[in-house]
Amino acid sequence: MTEKKQIRAIKGTRDILPPDSALWNWFERSAREVFETYGFRDIRLPIFEQTDLFARSIGADTDVVGKEMYTFEDRDDSSISLRPEATASVARAYIEHGMHTLPGNVKLYYMGPMFRRERPQKGRYRQFYQVGAEILGQSDAPAIDAEALEMLMVLFERVGLAQTKLYVNSIGCKDCRPKYVELLREELRNVKDKLGADSQRRIETNPLRVLDSKLPEEQSIIEELPRISDHLCEACRQHFATLQQELSLRGIAYEQNWRLVRGLDYYTRTTFEVTAAGLGSQNAVCGGGRYDGLVELLGGHPTKGIGFAIGTDRVILSLQEGEKRLSMPGLAVFVAWMNSATYPTAVKIARTLRDAGFSVELLPEEMKFKKSLGLADRLGARYVLIIGEDEVASGNFTLKRLSDREQKKFSDSALIEYLQLEGRGSGA
Ligand code: HAM
Repeated sequence: MTEKKQIRAIKGTRDILPPDSALWNWFERSAREVFETYGFRDIRLPIFEQTDLFARSIGADTDVVGKEMYTFEDRDDSSISLRPEATASVARAYIEHGMHTLPGNVKLYYMGPMFRRERPQKGRYRQFYQVGAEILGQSDAPAIDAEALEMLMVLFERVGLAQTKLYVNSIGCKDCRPKYVELLREELRNVKDKLGADSQRRIETNPLRVLDSKLPEEQSIIEELPRISDHLCEACRQHFATLQQELSLRGIAYEQNWRLVRGLDYYTRTTFEVTAAGLGSQNAVCGGGRYDGLVELLGGHPTKGIGFAIGTDRVILSLQEGEKRLSMPGLAVFVAWMNSATYPTAVKIARTLRDAGFSVELLPEEMKFKKSLGLADRLGARYVLIIGEDEVASGNFTLKRLSDREQKKFSDSALIEYLQLEGRGSGA
């Protein structure tokens, strides 16, 4: 006999199994509920797009586009990529559907898988999941940034994420940033010999990314570099100051972090990240910022934009480290029938109970009563409904409560009433 090679999930991808999936669903449901109270609505986007959309939005020289995208040729030779993030797709959809004509700000949220070919480790996957929100429109008022951050922190608080820390920064605009980048480049050239290979390369390609470096030997050098906060133009400085007032007004705790530059090219002005407990080195549970030029860059009308994306995998990990478990209602009734004569009644009553909202297990084939009781126990059922020939003849069913083995007889309508009353006490 030839041995069959077992097929496993691809490196960096994973299955999310019950009971964990319940925690995922609950978190995503909480996000929908919170976002909808802030006037956001769901947008469902394609999982793959033209490669050019990401190259133009995120930047061809970024790690995400340069090294991490899953890109392939379609059968018509066009280049398509699995989405590494969804802000670019939201901006494309905004233009494609003429959403600039909609009244007020357009507030959208999305959730789903993203794909980046990174080195897998705890909290870092090649298929990971984001819950994101974007606001597009004509205004760049700092109150919009602050409200987005308020909504984010309200969600994190509501789900009980521990030790969250919000870091904010402003990276300036197309007027002031290039001057700062040039100044930074000159300073970095002076200390080039003391930097690692990656940072040396970034002096020419993208000096801002040097500020992101985690290399211990570079930290004291970076601390001495000029800070963008001292080089913002008047409008950006004012925008950032007002944002901070707005955050205080809303009682949102934050820390300023001048080194927070983010790895995607579309950002202007406000950038932010949130970290949480229990995650080790991959502790950013959310990243985001303002991207005022993006829609125009993609061929749309001049439009302001800001948003964020939460890494759902990391939020769930952090919640689980904090021992977050959901008490699931579980299986309510196990229907045990005796032989082919009682089976049609069992099918009917299982449907009636399910219609009333109970979780029901109905045996698909005949089983000895004792064995089926054992199975009901192992499945964690709260009740076994016994359907024997006497029950079918009398129309009264025997319900056995597994916790104390107490048995009672009911007609089917009385049975539902009883279960509903009992359920109220036990969370069914
Ligand atoms: P990002 O910082 O690249 O931003 O990703 C946001 C979050 O997604 C991260 O903070 C992290 O929690 C999660 N994440 C990223 N890569 C991985 C990975 N390989 N495995 C697990 N989780 C990951 C964006 O994607 C922007 N589109 C956010 C945004 C929206 N900016 C404006 N609007």
